[in-house]
Amino acid sequence: MTERHDAVDVIRTKRDGGRLSDDQIDWVVDAYTRGVVADEQMSALAMAILLVGMDGEEISRWTAAMIASGERMDFSSIGRPTADKHSTGGVGDKITLPLAPLVASFGVAVPQLSGRGLGHTGGTLDKLESIPGWRASLTNDELFGVLGDVGAVICAAGSGLAPADKKLYALRDTTGTVEAIPLIASSIMSKKIAEGTDSLVLDVKVGSGAFMKDIDRARELARTMVGLGERAGVATTALVTDMSTPLGRTVGNALEVRESVEVLAGGGPDDVRELTIALAAEMLAAAGRADEDPAAALDDGRAMDSWRRMIAAQGGDPDAPLPTATHTQVVTAPSDGVVTSLDAYGVGVAAWRLGAGRARQGDSVQAGAGVEIHARVGDAVSAGDPVLTLHTDTPERFARAEEALEGAIEIGAGTSEPRSVVLERIGAR
Ligand code: URA
Repeated sequence: MTERHDAVDVIRTKRDGGRLSDDQIDWVVDAYTRGVVADEQMSALAMAILLVGMDGEEISRWTAAMIASGERMDFSSIGRPTADKHSTGGVGDKITLPLAPLVASFGVAVPQLSGRGLGHTGGTLDKLESIPGWRASLTNDELFGVLGDVGAVICAAGSGLAPADKKLYALRDTTGTVEAIPLIASSIMSKKIAEGTDSLVLDVKVGSGAFMKDIDRARELARTMVGLGERAGVATTALVTDMSTPLGRTVGNALEVRESVEVLAGGGPDDVRELTIALAAEMLAAAGRADEDPAAALDDGRAMDSWRRMIAAQGGDPDAPLPTATHTQVVTAPSDGVVTSLDAYGVGVAAWRLGAGRARQGDSVQAGAGVEIHARVGDAVSAGDPVLTLHTDTPERFARAEEALEGAIEIGAGTSEPRSVVLERIGAR
């Protein structure tokens, strides 16, 4: 088949600061998916996009081309409004676990197609797989069955959604081109739009444990994604949230499930509860239910009921004891004072090295591994008090985890101002 463009011309256009035409974008994304544009050509183009940028129309067209590379799902047969959440990833970010059943308890359908963790941020499916019997892989019929019966489903995204993104994301990972906002925004939004949700709330993390280290870039990413969602007819809002320190008191798969269940029981750490409620309020408002009170459903057991049904519908036993690691080691405060910093990145890497995360796609993870946090930012400690407990089945990992924590805990004088985890909201309404 003769090709209607030449990859080198497309690369040169962007390299020289120009804008790509709709047809160039449609062609290059499709030709890359077909294997006609080579990896080295696409990586040159990705680098040119990182350096030069793209305007809103180019990003929108690029996103549409990635959606067109695969299938689109359609949840209209469920007969209820659908709402979805996406987080750009953070340390201790277990919010999907309490959030999906909470929103479902108000009659809004939550199809949460999720991924596995790679690197220092954990994956939702890895967390849920620590529940005995729970299955992440569902057929389409099973997915629709659970969504219809329970109202919430959290399962593995099939490989049919935006296959161009799968190929391009793997390439970006190895060519230093992950950090381009047009490419991050189109990557995330192509998958979410292909999923066919009516509305979407984005949790854009900012801080040491997140992709975006500064607020200006986080805001730009949030605005870009909200714009893409709106153009595609998906009611989209974003919360920019703090990821300078881990969310909650646990980082690691079974540890985070335990904490999520505490939130579903009306307790749990303040920041996890606050963010769960804030995201739920966005999802309910987008589904036309702005007058509902998500906090009440955490406190009166409705959210817990829908969690138990959701876990059981996917083969899990919500009453089974969660796995625990065979070895623990306590990290203590070196001096008296107030914890002024507990760095999200350091704690995330420590949890990962303890076995909670994977270095390569396909590696297995330890269900019980991770970090438990006893003293958080703003807490007063005395020398020798426990600050963290490290958990692992492979104690030879303790030393490397402790290396990751060097400089991650700062203890100083004075108090630090309590700060809301939600920093900004971006979107209409
Ligand atoms: N997550 C994605 O799915 N894609 C990106 O590019 C970055 C984060």
